[in-house]
Amino acid sequence: MKPVKVGLLGLGTVGTGVVRIVEGHQEDLQSQVGSPIVIEKVLVQNRSKDRNIPIDVSKLTEDPYEIIQDPEIDVIVEVMGGVSQTKEYILEALSRGKHVVTANKDLMALHGPEILRTAKENQCDVLYEASVAGGIPIIRTLIEGFSSDRITKIMGIVNGTTNYILTKMTQEGASYNEVLKEAQQLGYAEADPTSDVEGLDAARKMTILSTLGFRANVALEDVTTKGISGVSSEDIQYAQRLGYVVKLLGIAERQDEYISVTVQPTMVKNTHPIASVNGVFNAVYVYGEAVGETMFYGAGAGELPTATSIVADLVAVVKNLKLGVNGQQASTAYKEKKLKSDEQ
Ligand code: NDP
Ligand code: HSE
Repeated sequence: MKPVKVGLLGLGTVGTGVVRIVEGHQEDLQSQVGSPIVIEKVLVQNRSKDRNIPIDVSKLTEDPYEIIQDPEIDVIVEVMGGVSQTKEYILEALSRGKHVVTANKDLMALHGPEILRTAKENQCDVLYEASVAGGIPIIRTLIEGFSSDRITKIMGIVNGTTNYILTKMTQEGASYNEVLKEAQQLGYAEADPTSDVEGLDAARKMTILSTLGFRANVALEDVTTKGISGVSSEDIQYAQRLGYVVKLLGIAERQDEYISVTVQPTMVKNTHPIASVNGVFNAVYVYGEAVGETMFYGAGAGELPTATSIVADLVAVVKNLKLGVNGQQASTAYKEKKLKSDEQ
């Protein structure tokens, strides 16, 4: 049983979770894929930083090419974040025949088609389940679970940080700035939390979900986006008095060939199931013409929930390796063709 060797780019909140799950669940993972999964090398910014996980320091490197160009490495797991550098590393890894698992919604929302095309050309997998809604397997669900249906609406809370902030402001009257700091300490927020609070992170996720759900090209710039930085305690109290809670909602709708996608703070009636999605939890409501209403709920950010999705993708890549079918699933989701509405 030849081990499958993984190069991990990033050992922060999510990377640490990946190491914990790969090591802690090794026996079970092996029994599913038939080979040991070994984290061979890990890219970090600073090798001498104190880490809250015991790791063999000789595996740590500050040189990305030591990992990307290592012929022994089969799969790259990218959990470092950022766009331009990361894109360069991923494209190079794919050109060298390495499969990629990523949690990077910024990258997939902006460059998904190019990355998936390159993956297909090189018969590689690129899987990105963790990029939307942390531990909820919503991407796999949209691609596979609803392949038989025509989805017309996707609505949800897809950012854990802002839901955590709004929940604490609503339930405890906490101050926006204090709760944001807490969300950062808990590892929920992005490196630059502006993208959380201004709705950009949710917009990137809605771009990915609507592209997959509607099987269409949806561009980030088509998403009308407003964050929660302008939501005051008074707004929240006023909504409460009327029987509503304020949530940062992403709403994507399709009517014939027309698609609209928005992210904005929204008043949700207390009795609606979305109103009771609190803290770091996310929920994604999907309406399909045949299936009707469905809703998916779970932790939207954080070390282990996010790493669960990453390692599930890793298992899928290794199973594909065994079957010799890598590169066959990624490419079908993103279309090269433009929407009719784009052409007008
Ligand atoms: P962190 O900031 O906690 O970790 C980033 C890691 O990447 C660190 O180990 C850092 O090194 C390393 N790193 C960053 N930039 C570079 C670079 N240029 N060269 C080398 N190493 C680098 O981020 P998270 O773990 O929170 O997030 C990682 C990714 O996962 C992001 O794309 C994020 O959007 C996504 N994500 C995060 C979730 C979460 O709950 N946090 C949930 C879902 C997705 P060092 O440790 O030395 O500083
Ligand atoms: N910052 C993101 C959030 C991480 O709070 O939802 C998960 O994608």
